Amino acid sequence: MKALFFEKFGGPEVLQYGEVPDPTYGSTDLLVQTTLIGLNFADIYRRQGTYHIEHHDPWINGYEGIGQVVGVGKDVTDYKIGDRVLFVDVPFANAEMVRVPAASAIKPPTTISDELAVSIGLQGLTADFLAHDLAMNHPDEKVLVYGVSGGVGQILTQILTADKVQVFGVASTAEKRELGLQNGAQRVFSRSGEWIDQFAGTFDTVFDGAGVTLNQSFELIKHRGKVVFYGMAGGQTPKLDPVALLAASKSLLTGDLWDYLTTAAARQFRFNCLLRYIEHHQIKLSQPTILPLSKGRQAHELMTSEQNIGKILLKP
Ligand SMILES: NC(=O)c1ccc[n+]([C@@H]2O[C@H](COP(=O)([O-])OP(=O)(O)OC[C@H]3O[C@@H](n4cnc5c(N)ncnc54)[C@H](OP(=O)(O)O)[C@@H]3O)[C@@H](O)[C@H]2O)c1
Repeated sequence: MKALFFEKFGGPEVLQYGEVPDPTYGSTDLLVQTTLIGLNFADIYRRQGTYHIEHHDPWINGYEGIGQVVGVGKDVTDYKIGDRVLFVDVPFANAEMVRVPAASAIKPPTTISDELAVSIGLQGLTADFLAHDLAMNHPDEKVLVYGVSGGVGQILTQILTADKVQVFGVASTAEKRELGLQNGAQRVFSRSGEWIDQFAGTFDTVFDGAGVTLNQSFELIKHRGKVVFYGMAGGQTPKLDPVALLAASKSLLTGDLWDYLTTAAARQFRFNCLLRYIEHHQIKLSQPTILPLSKGRQAHELMTSEQNIGKILLKP
């Protein structure tokens, strides 16, 4: 099969496209022929060698995709050849064929397209987990979302708005700020930060997936407020002083989605919850950018360019 792979960690130039052996699969697995593969920020960290990656020789990145079942392990009872499945948190997804443990598969309804299902996938589940497992805001609370027009940011803003939380955002360009407003944010600030002094101590929660902004996030929350830290899209985090946090009763909440979505039932249930927001027109997504899997290098460059809006998908 064809796959996007790399032999050493580094910049986008380490990515190669070519033949690798087909995956084998076991009695509780599905073999899935991918139709679309989701690119996520964690794939950048993995390519750079700064994040956990499942061992494979050569390395094959990618943890999310959608496709058709072309092989079914002998102990799998709830899937058959030809079924359409979405999978998230499954390694070696940057390939034409992927071994998917049946417990990690999600059945999307026929009413939604492959593009939409995989665009909601990991970023949607993350947004739901940040809002409903970590932050747990009440109606009328005031929150700030960094990267309001990013993949997670767009869905998070819309979920919180539907939950009647007051959302403010931060984005780097006028186009991205406009998108944040369209998604329900009351106001979207620029990254230049001239607004920070005025809004210091104002927010119940700041959602920070940028990492480099962590000190600023703590300035922006109220006493007894919380910073939900969930990624390093902007670079490494500064060192924190827990004693200063204690003195101001400010909390850091953080976590990895996969320590929360641990069963097949939980994945399917959470995905169905996201679909309800979509059915009620409370979540809409900007058009994904679709690039051939063979152009994976270009896709990685786009993701870190800060020019991209919305989901990047790879087509095998
Ligand atoms: N904890 C988990 O379980 C989990 C799961 C999935 C994803 N994540 C994390 O979620 C984050 C967002 O992922 P994504 O897929 O939504 O990526 P994305 O679509 O590329 O969005 C990243 C956003 O980060 C913002 N950003 C980049 N550098 C920044 C900086 N220096 N200061 C402020 N904002 C900055 C960008 O917004 P502007 O250009 O508008 O500033 C961009 O919208 C990543 O850190 C990822 O690792 C965490």
